[in-house]
Amino acid sequence: EMAQKEGYDYFMLKEIHEQDSAIRDTLSEKDKIAEIISNLDGINRICFVACGTSFHASLTGKYLIESMSGISTDVILASEFKYSANTLDENTLVIFISQSGETADTLKALKVAKKTSKTLAIVNVLGSSATREADFVIYTRAGPEIGVAATKTYISQLVCIYMFAAILADNKELLNTLNEVPDYISEVLSKEDVIKDIASKYSDVNDFFFIGRGLSYPTALEGALKLKEITYIHGEGYAAGELKHGPLALIDDDVPVVVVLPPGDNYKKTVSNLEEVKARGAHVIVIGSCENDFIKTEVEDSFCINDKVKEIIAPLLYVIPLQLLSYYISVERGLDPDKPKNLAKCVTVE
Ligand code: G6P
Repeated sequence: EMAQKEGYDYFMLKEIHEQDSAIRDTLSEKDKIAEIISNLDGINRICFVACGTSFHASLTGKYLIESMSGISTDVILASEFKYSANTLDENTLVIFISQSGETADTLKALKVAKKTSKTLAIVNVLGSSATREADFVIYTRAGPEIGVAATKTYISQLVCIYMFAAILADNKELLNTLNEVPDYISEVLSKEDVIKDIASKYSDVNDFFFIGRGLSYPTALEGALKLKEITYIHGEGYAAGELKHGPLALIDDDVPVVVVLPPGDNYKKTVSNLEEVKARGAHVIVIGSCENDFIKTEVEDSFCINDKVKEIIAPLLYVIPLQLLSYYISVERGLDPDKPKNLAKCVTVE
């Protein structure tokens, strides 16, 4: 096992560090995705179905596809899928996202969806059950993932979804930009110590909030999920604009709020949400552009991301400091991030 970890203390850290190469390998699926899309005539609706981290990747897909192609896109939890099944028809493409390709809820939904609709599975494990059931298959090329909490497979799922959405919308600029992401990832990973310091400062708290708007909302949800999974700290991801409808009542100086804040259209409004929580005493941790005076002067803790990373590709980068935050808090609390209690890598019961 030591040899497999290649010098890293845990598989999770190794897998976080493999994300640049995971993306490079997954980008090679582009032609396959283009070929699948050329076989999808008549599709006027897309439904994503998934669980856990794969569900968060799917949510990102909804934002990308609806904004770039105008194709109505739903995201359904696999365990809740049966209530929507009778809305599917032959013009619906149902996309199943699963690292393992063996999750029971997802497989059950796939069997149902096949009866009416075209199905596409985006899966990491070669030859897994989902790849045998679906009409079309795209492999995420992340390589084997051992840590129970998904990291590099999430990034690879996102890259597949980005390529799918970009080809569907004929957005060549976005396709080209994806090639720059691995280098930005290496840059983020080289600043790991910044997150390690933030993690040691907050390892004793009981609750965390993660907020973001638009494409950064699924990132916030995924940050909160990682925290729950491996640190056993309560973490809640929220759409920044929704804070005022409830959770603001929970904010005080014991609750750190992580703000996912890429430069772009949502920046100003998210900053006002940041100010709302700061005014109520919250410790704010910003993940955002480095060229930002507000972050430099007003914010207690921050992790800088190259400001050339525009909002549209932010989900591929901004989740990494959140993965590292949970990882280092977990280690600081003396836990084993690879094997969280009560959780399994692959859940084969409904
Ligand atoms: C389990 C794992 C999660 C994963 C989820 C969905 O809960 O612990 O990391 O996101 O299953 O798994 P799948 O293999 O379908 O992506």
